[in-house]
Amino acid sequence: MIEIENLTKRFGDRTVLDDISLSVGSGEILAVVGPSGAGKSTLSRCVSFLERPTSGTVRVDGKDFTRLDGDELLAARRGVGVIFQTAPLLRRRTVAQNIALPLQYLNATEDSVDKRVTELLERVGLSDRREFYPAQLSGGQKQRVGIARALALGPSNLLSDEATSGLDPATTRSILGLLGHLRDEFGLSIILITHEMEVVREIADSVARIEDGRIIESGSVQDIILDPRSALAHELLPDRPGVPHDGQGEVWEISHASRNVPLDWLTTIGSTPGLDGAQVSVLSASVEAIRGVAVGRAVLAISPSAPAGFAEHLTARGLHVRPVEKATAGSTEAAA
Ligand SMILES: Nc1ncnc2c1ncn2[C@@H]1O[C@H](COP(=O)(O)OP(=O)(O)O)[C@@H](O)[C@H]1O
Ligand SMILES: [Mg+2]
Repeated sequence: MIEIENLTKRFGDRTVLDDISLSVGSGEILAVVGPSGAGKSTLSRCVSFLERPTSGTVRVDGKDFTRLDGDELLAARRGVGVIFQTAPLLRRRTVAQNIALPLQYLNATEDSVDKRVTELLERVGLSDRREFYPAQLSGGQKQRVGIARALALGPSNLLSDEATSGLDPATTRSILGLLGHLRDEFGLSIILITHEMEVVREIADSVARIEDGRIIESGSVQDIILDPRSALAHELLPDRPGVPHDGQGEVWEISHASRNVPLDWLTTIGSTPGLDGAQVSVLSASVEAIRGVAVGRAVLAISPSAPAGFAEHLTARGLHVRPVEKATAGSTEAAA
């Protein structure tokens, strides 16, 4: 369990993290998203003990590491495994030897190291790569070695800073699958730092968006998806289908979490009270499941134009409403 409270980090007179509070419980994955330069890696370094916060606390499994020193700090460090964007593997050591490194620092016996490495290799699906060298591995396999090494000392928390950036989509999915499996099997608390919304959709239980060192939005993925006013929800919902249309009227993208809206919302949309005689046509519609919530997206053309108050009417029904720029909805110039 990791609890971050009122964490502020300054470099000189620059505030890079401003009053961040977040927590991730056992068996949970928290995704931290945000643009480049937002402060994500600084947050990661504050949680992995590489950087001391200017103020605030970071508690790992109940212990406030900002108050620890020396041996106590070293022991606390073992509670957090860290995975990086590129696994920092030693080229002249085999997979097994790389995974054994943290165990050897602890002066474990050769037999116990060997046994533990065998276990870890199995866990990350690399038993048949034991004697390979890093140069003989794919990017995804290297990342698996990095994960095995991060788990070597049996941490109850895992921190990943852009571990899937630079991997192809299929490999990303398999690494995320592994992390999800580890969360479930060992009840790990995992903080996943990423700039990819795909990752959040696929695996996160909760999500926080950081911009300029501040939390802009945070909460459980389910709650956020169910909130029609959430900006993050728009990003989490399925990718926008490319929709051709003739450029007539206004085009709106409507998304929703099914639990929030009546099943017949789309078929009855033409008789929505606020519509006031305007015509609605459905350009596309789709539904998919995210974290156990069925979410749908539809693109509507409203002609000749949407009456004032129509958007509010839909929002009140639990729908997320977003006008689509003509240019992104179709290639034809607008008639009006
Ligand atoms: N050691 C440091 N000294 C001064 N500024 C830093 C230091 N580390 C990071 N920064 C600044 O903090 C900001 C956030 O950086 P970072 O945490 O790497 O963001 P992200 O990982 O979200 O891209 C950046 O503007 C960066 O230049
Ligand atoms: Mg970073």
